[in-house]
Amino acid sequence: MAISSLVALIGAIALVALWKLLREYIVRSPLDNLPGPQSGTLLLVGNLPELTTRDAWKRINYIAETYGPASVLRSVLGTRMLHVYDPKALHSILIKDVEQFPKDLSPSNDLPLLLGPGLLTTEGSQHRRQRKMLNPVFSAAHLRHMTHIFYDIAHKLRGAIEVRVDKQPEEVDVNGWMARTTLEMLGQAGLGYSFDNFVDDSSDSYGESIKLFFPMLSRIPLFGVIIPWISHYLPEAAIRMLLRKFPSANVRTMIAISDTMERRSQEIVDEKKTALLQGDDDLVQRVGEGKDIMSVLLRDNTTASDAEKLTNEELVAQMSVFILAGMDTTSNALSRILHLLAQHPAEQEKLRAEIREARGSSASDVGADISYDDLVKLPYLDAVCRETLRLYAPVMLIVRRAAKDIVLPLTWPVRGKDGSMMHELFVPKGTGILPNLQASNCNRALWGEDAMEWRPERWTEQLPEELDEARIPGVYSNLMTFSGGSRSCIGFKFSQLEMKVVLSVLLSKFKFELTDKPIAWNASAVTYPTMGEESTKPEMILKLTRI
Ligand code: HEM
Ligand SMILES: *[C@@H]1O[C@H](CO)[C@@H](O)[C@H](O)[C@H]1NC(C)=O
Ligand SMILES: *[C@@H]1O[C@H](CO)[C@@H](O)[C@H](O)[C@H]1NC(C)=O
Repeated sequence: MAISSLVALIGAIALVALWKLLREYIVRSPLDNLPGPQSGTLLLVGNLPELTTRDAWKRINYIAETYGPASVLRSVLGTRMLHVYDPKALHSILIKDVEQFPKDLSPSNDLPLLLGPGLLTTEGSQHRRQRKMLNPVFSAAHLRHMTHIFYDIAHKLRGAIEVRVDKQPEEVDVNGWMARTTLEMLGQAGLGYSFDNFVDDSSDSYGESIKLFFPMLSRIPLFGVIIPWISHYLPEAAIRMLLRKFPSANVRTMIAISDTMERRSQEIVDEKKTALLQGDDDLVQRVGEGKDIMSVLLRDNTTASDAEKLTNEELVAQMSVFILAGMDTTSNALSRILHLLAQHPAEQEKLRAEIREARGSSASDVGADISYDDLVKLPYLDAVCRETLRLYAPVMLIVRRAAKDIVLPLTWPVRGKDGSMMHELFVPKGTGILPNLQASNCNRALWGEDAMEWRPERWTEQLPEELDEARIPGVYSNLMTFSGGSRSCIGFKFSQLEMKVVLSVLLSKFKFELTDKPIAWNASAVTYPTMGEESTKPEMILKLTRI
C-alpha cells in the first residue's frame, strides 16, 4: 500500500514535470498570432542562441525591422517571449503598470544572487524605499559638486595618455583607458575610494573583479536560467555555498568574483563608518571629500526614519551595483563616441572648435576647464552624445516578466498571422518580455528615413512631429537608452557629466584617427569593442596625435 502510493506520487510528479515541459509546445497562446522568426534549429532553446552570440546586435536589429514593434520569440523549452518597442506598450510596461512587470517572478536570479539587494536587483517596496533614499545623491545639485573630481581624474588620464602617445601614437587602447577612467570616477564620486593612480598599471583586486564580472557571466549563459529555478527550493546563501563547490571552473570563478566584490565593499564601508565617527575635518581630507555617494548615504541613514533606513547588506550591495551598472556602460559609450569621431573627422573638428572656444584656449594654451553650467549646455557636444546614445544604446534590451494576465495597449495595430488586426495585446501571466530600447531609438516611423544614420545635427534641428506625438516613455529626450519610469537609470546625468568632462579634456589635446586595424563591436550585456571579428578581448586601438 505504502509502496504503491509512493509510486503513484512519483508518477504524478513526473507527469507534472513532463506537462510543464511540453505545455509550451502544446498549448496555444494568444501571443502565437504575433509575427516572429522561426523558433531556430534547436527546439529546446528556441531563439536564445542567436540572441547571445557576439553579433547578436545584427540579429536583434533584423528581428526588430522585419517583425515590427511587437513580435514573439522562443526561449528555453519553447517558452514565449514578447519582443516589443511599441511606445504605448512600453509606457504600460515601464510606467503605468510597472508593478505588474517586475524583472522576474522567481525569488532570486543571477544578478540578485551575485550582487545582493541593491537598486538594480530589488523589487516592490524595498526598491521604492532604496530609490527614494538614493535619488537626491544623483540630482543635478549634487552632481555639480562632483565636477571637479571628474576633471581631476580626466587630467590624470590626459597626462597618462600623453606619456603613451609620445612612445607609440598608433597603439593607444582607448577602450582600456576609458574603462580605467569610469571606474576611477565611480570609485571616487561613488565610494570615496581610489582604484587607480594612472601612473602604474592598475591591479586593484576589487577593480579587476568588477571588470571581469560581465565577461565571466556571458561565459555561463545557462546561469540565468537555472538560478531562478533553484531559488524556488533553496535560499540564496545555500545556492552560493553549493556553487563554490560546483565542478565548472567558470561558475566557481563567478562566485569568487562576487565574493571579492562583497568583501572589498564591506571593507570600504567599514573605513567610511570609522571616518564619519571621527568627524568632518578628517573626511574632507579623504578621497571624495566626504561628498561621495556612500558617505552621503551613511550620514543620511543616521537621520532617516526607521522605515527608510538602509541595512548594512543593502549599502554594500549598492556599491557593487553602481560600479557594475555605471562602469562598462559609460566607458563603452565613450569608446563609441571616440570611434565615431575618428570615422568622421569633420564632426570631430567641429566639436573640438566648440570645446576650445568654451575653454578659451589659444594655440599654445589649453585654457581653463569649462564650468558645470557651461559644459552641460554646449550644444554640439550635447548633440554628439545624444546621437551616439541614440544609435548605439549600450544596453540594447532589458528583460521583464508579466506578474499577471494583462492587456497591453498599442500605438500601432499589429496584423496577426491569421490576417486579423490586433489593437491591443493579451499577455498571459509569466510571459517574458524584451523591451527593445535600441529599436525604439532607431524606429524609422518616429525618427524619419535617416534613423539608422549617425547625424548629430538632427538634435539642433526640429525633431519629427511623429516623435513628439508618440510620447516615448524614456527619461531622457525621446530616447529609451536609459529606460523610463521608476526603474530608469538613476545614473543618467552622472554618466553624461562624466562623458562631457572626458571629451572636453581629451579633444582639446588630442586628435583621434583610425588605424589600419578594424574595430568590431561584440554584443553582450553591454556591447563592447574588440580589434577584429575574431578577438574576444575588450580593446579599441586608435591613433592619437597631440595638438
Ligand atoms: C551610458 C551609460 C549608461 C547607460 C546606457 C545605462 C543604462 C541603464 C538602463 C537601460 C537601465 C535599466 C535597466 C533595467 O531596467 O533592466 C539602468 C539602470 C540603472 N543604472 Fe544605468 N546606465 C548608464 C550609466 C549608469 C551610471 C553611471 C550609473 C551609476 C552611477 C548607473 C546606475 C544604474 C542603476 C543603479 C540602475 C538601476 C536603477 C533601478 O532599477 O532603480 N547607470 N541603466
Ligand atoms: C565576444 O563574443 C564571443 C562570441 O559570442 C564570445 O564567445 C566571447 O566570450 C565574447 N567576449 C567576451 C569577453 O565576453
Ligand atoms: C542605518 O541605521 C540603522 C539603525 O541605526 C542601522 O541598523 C544600520 O546598520 C545603518 N545602516 C548602515 C548601512 O550602516
